[in-house]
Amino acid sequence: MAAQSGNTKAGENDRIPRHIAIIMDGNGRWARKRGLPRTAGHAVGAENFRKIATTCKNMGMDYLTVYAFSTENWKRPTEEVGAIMKLLKKYLDEAIETMARDKIRMKIFGNVEGLSAELQEMVAKTDAISAGYEGFQANICLNYGGRDEIVRAAMRYARDCAEGKAPAELTEDSFSSYLYSAGIPDPELIIRTGGEKRVSNFLLWQCAYSEFYYTDVLWPDFGPEELEKALEAFRIRERRFGAV
Ligand code: FPP
Repeated sequence: MAAQSGNTKAGENDRIPRHIAIIMDGNGRWARKRGLPRTAGHAVGAENFRKIATTCKNMGMDYLTVYAFSTENWKRPTEEVGAIMKLLKKYLDEAIETMARDKIRMKIFGNVEGLSAELQEMVAKTDAISAGYEGFQANICLNYGGRDEIVRAAMRYARDCAEGKAPAELTEDSFSSYLYSAGIPDPELIIRTGGEKRVSNFLLWQCAYSEFYYTDVLWPDFGPEELEKALEAFRIRERRFGAV
């Protein structure tokens, strides 16, 4: 664990992780509590993602990775899947307009070929814009599964072997370069909102040394003050670790 602690930034009392990841759970329950359709919860959740991403950037973090749509989420009712895809399209559209101005890079982690042609085109655009500068990066996991990511990495490695392009030795580091997260430090902190205490196939390789923070707060209610609570819990754990 010590090896990963060195990733954090700043001084002893205000450690800011370089990379945090979030399982944004609880949109449906948030909506139901208000007598609204589940899709209304996703819309507020998407807005909240924007707010939290801006907060992370302003705090000086380098990466925020969020779980927006898993390989398993296709099993949801068609109408709900459609609504989430529509939100993602709207969000990517707006991001294409504003990311250069706001200096936010964006990367999609996931099986992009499984998305609509229109979404695939937008992903290509955000990749091209992101390549143009450095700075805070938001990673959106879309049609993503941790096991799927590892299997795909293994297949890409096998292909490189067959073509004589594989690294001489397969190490944890060289294997990592085949993952969606190639070149990005592992998240020091993973937050899950909405009360469940599961990892749900999220960043299975990358979470090896992450601290986990679970909260009952539903994602649309997880504002900057809740993020600060998670960071404080993270700092306390780091300090305790230092004392041992
Ligand atoms: C979990 O809540 C949320 C999702 C599966 C979808 C998350 C999608 C968004 C926030 C919209 C788009 C995202 C971005 C990044 C623009 P749930 O539906 O499982 O809630 P429940 O557990 O209360 O049913």
